[in-house]
Amino acid sequence: MTHHTKSFHIAFQPLGLRARFPEGQSILECARNAGVDLVSVCGGNGTCGKCKVQIVSGDVSEPTQRETDVLTESGINKGYRMACQTFAKSDLVINIPAESLSALQRLQVEGLEIPLSPDPLVQSYHLELSAPSLSDLRGDDIRVMDGLGKQHGIPCHTMDEAVLRSISSTLRTNDWRVSAFVREQEVISLGAVDGPSLGVAIDLGTTKVAGYLVDLQTGKTLAAKGVMNPQIAYGEDVIARIVHARKSPEDASMLQAKVVESLNRLSHDLCREVTCKQENIQEMVIVGNTAMHHLLLNLPVGQLAKAPYVPAVSGAMDVKARDLGFLTSKGAYVHVLPNIAAFVGADHVAMLEGCHAWDAKGPLLAIDIGTNTEISLAVDGHITSVSCASGPAFEGAHISHGMRASSGAIDHFQIIDGSVTYHTIQGTKPTGICGSGIFDILAQLFLNNIVDQSGRIIQDHPRVQDKQNIREFIIVDKHETANGSNISITQGDVRELQLAKAAIQTGINVLLKDRGLAHEDVSEVVVAGAFGNYLDLSSVIAIGMFPNLTLSRFRQVGNAAGMGAKIALISGERRQTIQKLTRKIRYIELADFPGFNDIYMKAISLGHNQMGYSDKIQ
Ligand code: FES
Repeated sequence: MTHHTKSFHIAFQPLGLRARFPEGQSILECARNAGVDLVSVCGGNGTCGKCKVQIVSGDVSEPTQRETDVLTESGINKGYRMACQTFAKSDLVINIPAESLSALQRLQVEGLEIPLSPDPLVQSYHLELSAPSLSDLRGDDIRVMDGLGKQHGIPCHTMDEAVLRSISSTLRTNDWRVSAFVREQEVISLGAVDGPSLGVAIDLGTTKVAGYLVDLQTGKTLAAKGVMNPQIAYGEDVIARIVHARKSPEDASMLQAKVVESLNRLSHDLCREVTCKQENIQEMVIVGNTAMHHLLLNLPVGQLAKAPYVPAVSGAMDVKARDLGFLTSKGAYVHVLPNIAAFVGADHVAMLEGCHAWDAKGPLLAIDIGTNTEISLAVDGHITSVSCASGPAFEGAHISHGMRASSGAIDHFQIIDGSVTYHTIQGTKPTGICGSGIFDILAQLFLNNIVDQSGRIIQDHPRVQDKQNIREFIIVDKHETANGSNISITQGDVRELQLAKAAIQTGINVLLKDRGLAHEDVSEVVVAGAFGNYLDLSSVIAIGMFPNLTLSRFRQVGNAAGMGAKIALISGERRQTIQKLTRKIRYIELADFPGFNDIYMKAISLGHNQMGYSDKIQ
């Protein structure tokens, strides 16, 4: 007798991975087999609660005791389950919350679509022109502009000079049938009919660059790709780049050329993915912090790093793409969003747009975590911003065993019933600790009384040792690591993390104090940026870096700056609104804020008790 095992079809969203699985495999196993890298710190024992998924449709097994212990009743009612405890009973559609995915996969999922009908600045018009004759001796340029007026009612006054240089051959090789691309009454490009109208949105970070190829007519993202900023070789942070650029004008233009070259390669790769050409790119929008913005535009940077710290340009700019060295259609423009201050740049403006901060009613905190952390508080459309020097700890730098988020990095850590569990990116043997792992570790050591409120590592734990006068807590023993040496967190590391935490907490507290608000008044906290997306919120709340609010008030939004850049790319109207609203943003210089030192010193302690959190911030 043949035994038929039942099988079910399971779709994992938003990744779009789907496959058929035999009955009896846990959702966690199915996910792994489908190539979904679910976080499972306890390895499927049902103790860590990290493998949370949401059953969107279909029947599954009843919740186990472990699940009812870890999940809330309302969570279970909404379909939330622990993947390692749940078995399919029918075909399923499963939603994977961002926090249940390991770091690498989260990068790939960021293809969010824009909920906006496109009204791009560049519009294309199909023209059928008559050839010149003895009775019609108009010049080619006038012929095109008359055609735009007569056939489409578009009054055009100028034509890009590079378009003019090739206009005669373009019209004749296309037999007088062409598409004209018009931007604010200027013909910026002329080409074969039916050429696509593409735009590129770039989030130019100090470390990473994200690029999106967008169809300007539909607003759809056609391709997305991330690369490293090649300027890293000339300094890890903005200050080092500024110092380098100030050595000589040649050094500054070299930095500019490096970044343009890599952006050209990036847009080339994006176009190749959809078999288009760079000459179909009709518009670019670039956002970056103020230093990246200035270096890209060949603007002076000295004043950014010298008190009283001001940008050379804070308004939005439109520049011919070719003048910066970009490969695009002949007359395409690059639009750069406005800056707020020397250390709160156009990328933060884009993030505010991407997370709809201007429309938020209740007090909303928008936090973009990085080496420099920008934070804004939005209350009824009024925005105040600060910039905090949070340091490179989030990138794993300046931490003894820190590393960037890549394969082998410990990205999650927990102490369960006294024993240590961790998860590495791609599940390989641990090689170091990345930012999210570092903050998990600090939180877990603090919650388990291994690190006290002052940040001191307390000695009476078997994993704590003093080596050459340096106290450390062993995270992974050398027998389990990739390189055969211990992975630990030292007293010095804890101090470094306390400074990063204090910087961010101070920024939040100053913004709230300035408006006379307390933590519990905040209705929403938006955490953006590649790093912010991977953070375990309960860890950073536990150490006191973020306000002690219920998790439902937090929203981790991924690359909101990239989203904001895309919105500015496809909507001329939003672009104008952004400019208008950015001018109204009030920037607070932290060090000048009354009581700054006090607020900062208090923020160095771990936890929430020291702050009088239920009161207004003192
Ligand atoms: S993997 Fe499911 S609870 Fe830990």
